[in-house]
Amino acid sequence: MKIRAAVLEEFGRPLEVQELDLAEPKAGEVLVRLVACGVCHTDLYTASGADPSGYAPAVLGHEGAGVVEAVGENVLSVAPGDHVVTLFSPQCRECVHCRDPRTNLCLAIREQQNLGYLPDGTTRLSRDGEPIRHFMGTSTFAEYTVMPEIALAKVSPEAELDRACLFACGLSTGLGAAMNTAKVQPGSTCVVFGAGMVGLGAVAGCRLRGADRIVCVDLSEERLALARGQGATDTLAGGPDVVQAILDMTGGFGADYTFEATGIVSVMRQAVEAARMGWGLATVCGVAGKGETLDVIPRYLITGRRIAGSSFGGVKGRDQVPQLVQRYLDGEIDVDAFISHRISLDEVNRGFELMEAQDGIRSVISMT
Ligand SMILES: NC(=O)c1ccc[n+]([C@@H]2O[C@H](COP(=O)([O-])OP(=O)(O)OC[C@H]3O[C@@H](n4cnc5c(N)ncnc54)[C@H](O)[C@@H]3O)[C@@H](O)[C@H]2O)c1
Ligand SMILES: [Zn+2]
Ligand SMILES: [Zn+2]
Repeated sequence: MKIRAAVLEEFGRPLEVQELDLAEPKAGEVLVRLVACGVCHTDLYTASGADPSGYAPAVLGHEGAGVVEAVGENVLSVAPGDHVVTLFSPQCRECVHCRDPRTNLCLAIREQQNLGYLPDGTTRLSRDGEPIRHFMGTSTFAEYTVMPEIALAKVSPEAELDRACLFACGLSTGLGAAMNTAKVQPGSTCVVFGAGMVGLGAVAGCRLRGADRIVCVDLSEERLALARGQGATDTLAGGPDVVQAILDMTGGFGADYTFEATGIVSVMRQAVEAARMGWGLATVCGVAGKGETLDVIPRYLITGRRIAGSSFGGVKGRDQVPQLVQRYLDGEIDVDAFISHRISLDEVNRGFELMEAQDGIRSVISMT
């Protein structure tokens, strides 16, 4: 079929919205009509050429939600008409990682996905017979996509898809960092560095876990106001003195849980140093620049602090994204506050510009 999609032709150049061919889903694959898609930093990171593993031409986009249109052979878990959220982090439910509660890093299709192919090593996207590669296994800057069944979370049809799409990446990443990776205990003190989509999600996750005190740190007063809306009890301006400020607020000890959601390695270090001696856990969500390293004085670890990394918030997507969406429907998560701009697919490059200008938290593309 013919579809319109935003193609990365060349790194550092605007995406080009154009007509492509999309082949039918093969066995284990699903054709999804996309309804909405958030614009995330990872799309821009790849489009800019900064990502060393990037490739072109490819259809970008990974924060998608839509409706199942058709299924290939042997697809049992979704059917036409189902509402789905796309998962760049799939869940096959069979591999050694999927069967272990300690991780969400499914091993089933990683290699082909990282190369831009569907699991059988080919693409469904093409232009005049030339293959166009998929991105993150999702390619959701498009009217339609074909994806593996194991990379789709079936969500309640009651959830508006332009809200549900945020659960495809940033929001679940932050929520999951607090709820899955750190497993914040009720009554605890938490500090979240960064109040973008991920950090705000972490603030909400700490609240849902019953944290007593949630301190959010950012450079933007506007974003700190959003953090208060998500449940932050205190806010602080970021900078070199912030660790001392947190120690002062916590009787000199530091926080039970800290979260880093900036991608800045010096802030990751602050998250370690602001964690409490004895049991403080620093959870790193940010993606650092290529080759950057985290500098930590080992004494912080000897004295009982721990560091955890979190990819997609440790969320096992097919099981847990539907649960998170249900908590949104139950009124526990305020998703509307994150949507700052609504744009069309043709305006996708404007979504990047808004992000670079830190104008709002999320631009959401409506496909229709
Ligand atoms: N682990 C994952 O699976 C995953 C998924 C999505 C995004 N990410 C990463 O998470 C990070 C955050 O993503 P986002 O979309 O929320 O980004 P964002 O750019 O919207 O937010 C980052 C925030 O950090 C703030 N900040 C900058 N310097 C600071 C400082 N010194 N102290 C405190 N705050 C500071 C900025 O003002 C901004 O509000 C990025 O590195 C992104 O790549 C990781
Ligand atoms: Zn993302
Ligand atoms: Zn798996």
